[in-house]
Amino acid sequence: MSRQIKLFDTTLRDGEQTAGVNFNLHEKVQIAKQLEKLGVDIIEAGFAITSKGDFNAIHAVSEHIHDAVVASLCRCREVDIDTAFRALQRAVSPRLHLVLATSDIHLKHKLKITREQCVEQVDKMVRYAKHYMSDVQFSLEDATRTAPEFIYRVVDTAIKAGATTINIPDTVGYIQPFEFAKLIEDIRANVPDIDKAELAVHCHNDLGQAVANTLAAIKAGAVQAEVAINGLGERAGNCALEEVVMALRTRNDYYDVRYNLDTTQIMRTSKLISVISGMEVAPTKPIVGKNAFAHESGIHQHGVLAEPTTYEIMEPSSIGRSQNIIALGKLSGRHAFEQNAQALGYDLDTDELDVAFEKFKKLADKKKEIHDDDIEAILGEKTSVVPEIYSLISFQFASGNNMISTATIELERDGVSTTEAAVGDGPVDAAFKAISRICGLELHIIDYSLRGVTQGQDALGSVSVTTQYATKHVKGIGISTDIIEASVRAYLNCINRILSNMGEYR
Ligand code: KIV
Ligand code: ZN
Repeated sequence: MSRQIKLFDTTLRDGEQTAGVNFNLHEKVQIAKQLEKLGVDIIEAGFAITSKGDFNAIHAVSEHIHDAVVASLCRCREVDIDTAFRALQRAVSPRLHLVLATSDIHLKHKLKITREQCVEQVDKMVRYAKHYMSDVQFSLEDATRTAPEFIYRVVDTAIKAGATTINIPDTVGYIQPFEFAKLIEDIRANVPDIDKAELAVHCHNDLGQAVANTLAAIKAGAVQAEVAINGLGERAGNCALEEVVMALRTRNDYYDVRYNLDTTQIMRTSKLISVISGMEVAPTKPIVGKNAFAHESGIHQHGVLAEPTTYEIMEPSSIGRSQNIIALGKLSGRHAFEQNAQALGYDLDTDELDVAFEKFKKLADKKKEIHDDDIEAILGEKTSVVPEIYSLISFQFASGNNMISTATIELERDGVSTTEAAVGDGPVDAAFKAISRICGLELHIIDYSLRGVTQGQDALGSVSVTTQYATKHVKGIGISTDIIEASVRAYLNCINRILSNMGEYR
């Protein structure tokens, strides 16, 4: 009988630790709902003690999630555990996720405690957490640089204190797949009570081994994989959910495991995270990259046309990749639009449909054929839930190679419209300055990127702007067939995001 593997998604916690990524509360709830639709077993919703924003988001996610377990991270401190417990109070199935570093490097230089003190803290804090709930996970931070004998001792202590899941993180992405498989086997062989807890792994991608390490650990007996959509996460990221799951599915003959995941939701989830996080997926990224199923060479194309399995080891439809079958145009009605949106996996309520259809109509006036990519871009913009505190009413630009660029922008806030003009180093710079004047927020631009999201001369362009506000990097996204308008919308999206989350940025 094949083993059941659990997927623990940490997009909302470790994924949000990706440099430049910040999710607001609405976005976190929306992502959590999609993760539940995807079928992950556990959603790590945040780190409750770190900020009011994280606490509130865990609380809100707990209210909206019914099937998956909702977890909050906590250090081995009473105040962290108390706070996480309060944040999880509405969760149907809550989990406290405790972490303490165990490697000598971390004990000596970061925590400044001895191994003895580490074991005492694990024992005390896991027992403390158990007063609150039965589902307690303990993670040995930097486990892969911890002496194996000490790992066995800490794991044994945590299980005796009541931990129901033991996580072995490769925190710095250091271990290699064969070594990791051996470590998991050794832990299983050397901790007498190991079967009283579920063994999990959490791999970082610093040496590009996160997926390989996770798969090696599963093969060696781990039953929980900690993952993030699109591989988001601290530094080089976490193990990508889509890659691990599709490896398990495609090579089921080798892994022989089961999981509760609807793989046809993968593409939709990846796109949602990419839009909301502003982190584009590289075209060559396995499974979800634009080119992952594109066959460029004539020989390959010929083979795929004759028989797809010649060069395709997975069916694109198995991860929910769409085929661009129906093209919509300016005469297409609301019903056809809704049907296309549904076929792409979006269930829209009446208000959402009204807004999206309005945008579709505006786009159809400018663009001859509307394809799946366009619809997804429209719906993706909708999914970036940032309240429109300031909305764009009109804009005008004057620019050329022998003149100073000027921009005039009209914005509306609470029914009052304000117009400002500014000069700048090009029309985008001038527009940003005019917007800053109206809103009273001067932002430092860290990054600006433009990409075509659809095909053709009248393609939709997506602009992503990263700005610095207080200590945080804040991203904004804008979409339009006009790249300057897309830039204006992206900058405004940043400003609205900051204004609607003021408390969280201090
Ligand atoms: O990388 C890590 O060790 C972590 C722990 C909190 C599990 O993210
Ligand atoms: Zn991590």
